[in-house]
Amino acid sequence: MPSLVACRPPMPIRPLPPQLVNQIAAGEVVERPASVLKELLENALDAGARRVSIEAEQGGIKRLVVSDDGCGIPRDELGLAVSRHATSKIATLRDLERVTSLGFRGEALPSIGSVARLQITSRVPASELAWRLVGDGSGHYQGPVPAAHPPGTRVEVRDLFFNIPARRKFLRTERTEFQHLLGHVQRLALSRFTVSLDLRHNRRSVLELPPAEDEAAEDLRVAAVCGEDFAEACVRIEHARAGMRLWGWMARPTFSRSQTDLQYFYVNGRPVRDRTVAHAVRQAYADVLFHGRHPAYVLHLEMDPEAVDVNVHPAKQEVRFRDARAVHDFLFHVLHRVIAELRPGSAGKLRTQAPASSPTTPPPEPSPSQTEVGLPYPGVAEAQVASYARMSEAARALSAETEHRGEQTNQAAREKSTPPLGFALAQLHGIYILAENARGLVLVDMHAAHERITYERLKRAVHEGPVPTQRLLVPLHLQVSATEAEHGEAARGALSELGVELDRIGPRALVVRAIPALLAGTDVERLVRD
Ligand SMILES: Nc1ncnc2c1ncn2[C@@H]1O[C@H](COP(=O)(O)OP(=O)(O)O)[C@@H](O)[C@H]1O
Ligand SMILES: [Mg+2]
Repeated sequence: MPSLVACRPPMPIRPLPPQLVNQIAAGEVVERPASVLKELLENALDAGARRVSIEAEQGGIKRLVVSDDGCGIPRDELGLAVSRHATSKIATLRDLERVTSLGFRGEALPSIGSVARLQITSRVPASELAWRLVGDGSGHYQGPVPAAHPPGTRVEVRDLFFNIPARRKFLRTERTEFQHLLGHVQRLALSRFTVSLDLRHNRRSVLELPPAEDEAAEDLRVAAVCGEDFAEACVRIEHARAGMRLWGWMARPTFSRSQTDLQYFYVNGRPVRDRTVAHAVRQAYADVLFHGRHPAYVLHLEMDPEAVDVNVHPAKQEVRFRDARAVHDFLFHVLHRVIAELRPGSAGKLRTQAPASSPTTPPPEPSPSQTEVGLPYPGVAEAQVASYARMSEAARALSAETEHRGEQTNQAAREKSTPPLGFALAQLHGIYILAENARGLVLVDMHAAHERITYERLKRAVHEGPVPTQRLLVPLHLQVSATEAEHGEAARGALSELGVELDRIGPRALVVRAIPALLAGTDVERLVRD
């Protein structure tokens, strides 16, 4: 049988042609229009731009233009800008070790120019004229030719992957690609507050962010990007220790997300995804968030550039901390402390604390009897226990129906006489019910239990056919962020199957016309935002 592994290379060794080298490099950094945008935005910021405008057509696949008012590229350096491994940002290894610019590899423009039609127009402030270089995607450029342009740079990228059908096939719908573009602009908006940004898609203005020069303006920008809800639920933090500084906004634990979409983390202004960071944050929120919920935050970590290696991956979204442990501990301690301070201490919930009036005498030991355990106000507690009984009843009804459909087990048969959530014994901290069922003691989170039951009912309703809906007497108008509006519009079909009728009525506005009848009386706004 012939060997599958050729023992001789099929061709002699020779250097790859430059165009192919660039296309291979593009394979690492240019995955979709958003990765092109990321590189162009980084270049604009590195050039000291105060204003950056972005224009996209068809999700950026057809056309993507980034214009800035930065330092510009001199005429005789334009050719170098599109040459591989040519950069103005570092010159030595020493520079690389302490790099503070976003770019430094000198790869982006040549890579982009090998997989799309690239055109660069730039003018340095000292020059009367701008100069333009035009590439056709083959690695050859025409120019520079004189052009009219204010000081700064304009980079236009057209027909991404027109010459690499295999890659083009992997691009998603225009809408999805645009979502990615928007995501990058928003990430950037939260890293450089003083830079004004605007984004247009298919000639429609999607985002306009004026420069934020003071704290109030920064808060406004955070609200514009992360949504009003986040802005209302967050606190601003700033802590410095041992050469590190952490600042930004973090949401109270009462505001959590079903996804990790509102998590922005920057190291020295560079958006990064890092396991050490993710772990520290998750741990800090561990006691206060339900399983499956994710915290929301915009956080900046500043530290000595030499203590962090940014040259880990071509896309530069990963970093390596020289002392990961110190970073982890710092983040965890700061966040943990802030969260502890944020915990609601009122309404008798924090019963472990001694009353302020008698700091020296220890509080009397509460006797854990059925009526006394952590019950803040008797009336409230009774109402809550009653509502628990209703929930428990509902759970029993649900499980009975399930059994009815032939899913009965012996275990279930044995437990039939006891409601699945058991009989309530006591209520703790106004949050939990201590109950006893056939298997022993159970601690039930009242809120979570209620959510679960509603969820199961809704799931069944969806399963059984059109979900009964209830039209809202007054349609609910919601001001949302541009991303939320896009998501809302995109999810319209899926939501309508669930009984939520929703329309987009503006770039940052949604209207809810109907909700599932099952959820009548709930906080519709919160429901939809979630
Ligand atoms: N918007 C811009 N404004 C000024 N100079 C730019 C701009 N974009 C690119 N350049 C110049 O072109 C060079 C090459 O860019 P790029 O290929 O992205 O590599 P890198 O950013 O890693 O240096 C940069 O080093 C910079 O000098
Ligand atoms: Mg660059």
